Amino acid sequence: MPEEKKIRAAVMGATGYAGAELVRILCGHPGVELALLTSRQHAGAPFSRVYPAFAGICDMVCEAVDPEKAAAAADVVFTALPHKLPMEVVPALLEAGAKVVDLSADFRFQSAGAYESAYQPHSAKHLLSRAVYGLPELFGDKIAAADLVGNPGCYPTSVILPLAPFLARDLLGLDSVIIDSKSGVSGAGRGLSLGTLFCEVSDAFRAYKPASHRHQPEMEEVLSTVAKKPVSITFVPHLAPMNRGMLSTIYAKMQKPLADEEARQILADFYQDKPYVRVLPKGFLPRTSDVRNSNFCDISLAVDKPAGRLILFSAIDNLVKGAAGQAVQNMNLMSGLPETQGLTMLPGGV
Ligand SMILES: NC(=O)c1ccc[n+]([C@@H]2O[C@H](COP(=O)([O-])OP(=O)(O)OC[C@H]3O[C@@H](n4cnc5c(N)ncnc54)[C@H](OP(=O)(O)O)[C@@H]3O)[C@@H](O)[C@H]2O)c1
Repeated sequence: MPEEKKIRAAVMGATGYAGAELVRILCGHPGVELALLTSRQHAGAPFSRVYPAFAGICDMVCEAVDPEKAAAAADVVFTALPHKLPMEVVPALLEAGAKVVDLSADFRFQSAGAYESAYQPHSAKHLLSRAVYGLPELFGDKIAAADLVGNPGCYPTSVILPLAPFLARDLLGLDSVIIDSKSGVSGAGRGLSLGTLFCEVSDAFRAYKPASHRHQPEMEEVLSTVAKKPVSITFVPHLAPMNRGMLSTIYAKMQKPLADEEARQILADFYQDKPYVRVLPKGFLPRTSDVRNSNFCDISLAVDKPAGRLILFSAIDNLVKGAAGQAVQNMNLMSGLPETQGLTMLPGGV
């Protein structure tokens, strides 16, 4: 039997936390061959020198960012770079025929104005209408036909998945949604900063950027698409003293009273054929430890009957379903591979 041709994949920003997670997943993906890795500080060094856990597994030498070279070497390029850089390299990657999954915010927005009000001027606005928002549970068909996917932010993934089934059915007050999310420190990336030093984050728990985080307009744009009406939210992120994991608790007024079983059935029906969303039974609440290292999003709920509020809970691993795992799920769809290929990592462990 002739061997199946593998997808050649490049990771730009491979030495960051999201990029390294991509390398970890892609090294175990049976349909992928790693073709090229880039780094800024570590260009010229083997990847395994930066991450010794990969010794003998990925000793590929990191290179400087060169979009023409990456597109020649790879069928799919993951841009796991800080926002603003992808908009500079993605046009050349597409021009040269590569498919792109961008992990930054640069291609997540349909509205250039919304992007620019949260980030900076966009130098490749013409590509926003070509880009598809990479949440496979909602936009799988479009992703399969796309050559440019804007991989969602970690907070938006943890928030949109639980809310979408209810907003799609007009069951929640569109200006009543309040979100309280907690992220592990790897969400801030590997770059040095005072706020992520061990003594600043260990044994400490704090909110940051209340009602002003850059993921808020991204969530509002996608939730409004799902609801087919404008949705405005209040979003408060928190930094939790853990390496990875994200837990969101979401409060919203119900348009009509829903019983617990009814609300749980709505979630179960919406996600019945979606391999990475697990709707938990009554009495169980998501925990970050139950999804760690996996591509799962666990969701549960509670009905606050006297207040007329639905409370939704979700847990993801910010580096997997919130970044690299979801990016590989998107690559699978874009490349005609089974959606779950290479993503069968089991969650949990202590
Ligand atoms: N961390 C998460 O949980 C998460 C979740 C969802 C999405 N994302 C997104 O994924 C992207 C990467 O995030 P991250 O957390 O992995 O960041 P990170 O740990 O800071 O890594 C950034 C990567 O980009 C490279 N890089 C930085 N500046 C560069 C430059 N001027 N030229 C070339 N390469 C440069 C870095 O190289 P060096 O290592 O050499 O500095 C590193 O490989 C961001 O857009 C982020 O928003 C992250």
